[in-house]
Amino acid sequence: MNKNKFNLVLRPRRLRKNNVIRRIVRENFLAIDDLVYPLFVRNGIKLKSEISSMPGVYHFSPDSILKEVESLLKLGLDRIILFGIPDEKDKNGMNAISESGIIQQTIRDIKSRFPEMFIISDVCMCEYTNHGHCGIIENNEVNNDATLLFLQKQVISHAEAGVDMVAPSGMMDGMIGAIRKALDEYNFIDISIMSYAVKYASAFYGPFREAAESTPQFGDRRQYQMDPGNTREAIKEAKIDLKEGADILMVKPAMAYMDIIQQIKAVSFSPIAAYNVSGEYSMIKAASQKGWINGVKVRDELLLSIKRAGADIIISYFAKEYAKEFNN
Ligand code: PBG
Repeated sequence: MNKNKFNLVLRPRRLRKNNVIRRIVRENFLAIDDLVYPLFVRNGIKLKSEISSMPGVYHFSPDSILKEVESLLKLGLDRIILFGIPDEKDKNGMNAISESGIIQQTIRDIKSRFPEMFIISDVCMCEYTNHGHCGIIENNEVNNDATLLFLQKQVISHAEAGVDMVAPSGMMDGMIGAIRKALDEYNFIDISIMSYAVKYASAFYGPFREAAESTPQFGDRRQYQMDPGNTREAIKEAKIDLKEGADILMVKPAMAYMDIIQQIKAVSFSPIAAYNVSGEYSMIKAASQKGWINGVKVRDELLLSIKRAGADIIISYFAKEYAKEFNN
């Protein structure tokens, strides 16, 4: 019988025939170097307590985080983003700018034991304020410019503690310019800024807010985080932040916003980061625990897809388990 009776000349399946040819033609790869691992630190001694909605993710104390950092370095993960949760939260988030604050102390401790660990710090007020908003509250609203003055103090305190890169996540207007100005005035010209430039008001942050105890106590964040319906506004935000001096632009969340990652990549020559956020992690963990999906395969497919969409850097709670398997 004529095996080609349909006269097919174009047969893309030829390049999918076996594993070798599939590897030869694969366009995108995920590597440990693409990943950044988030860590949560709070006061305590020898603390390592699992966050219930995020299996495999822990709160560490400043002493126990050193052990964790050591094990990350062994896995080839030499970059982390740090989130601090203070014991005392107050209206103006004072722990966030204190020399002896939880983050400042942790940065100093890690840097003195493991200077090779590249530390990025989250710069925002919501983990430090008792109202859970990302800024200074005046008349029941976040006051943008008062918050900028605060953020300047916050980054200087991180810089003095030895941070390598700061990542402002509060979506305040002018925050990148204000932070760059403060860093430069204090001669921290080499500290880079990864801007959460395009951050949507998203329900995918739910588990993180449990972890950071940062749920807003009134209202929500829609006066500063972006509306999920908007694309052109994302490009506007990205362009403003580049002009103000951002070194890296972040899109957040990742999974439901891959079109945004792709479009930001197309209008910028700076590296693009994407935050594979807590809700994305928890959904995969939960469905996997129920046996409804293969969690490892879904994880790898998701991370690769974020890369394919255009992310050069992926911040992910999966980074450690991925690195572990990669090393085996
Ligand atoms: C704000 C901040 C948030 C996340 C990172 N930085 C939460 C928010 O805006 O409510 C979310 C990260 C995640 O969900 O994994 N400082």
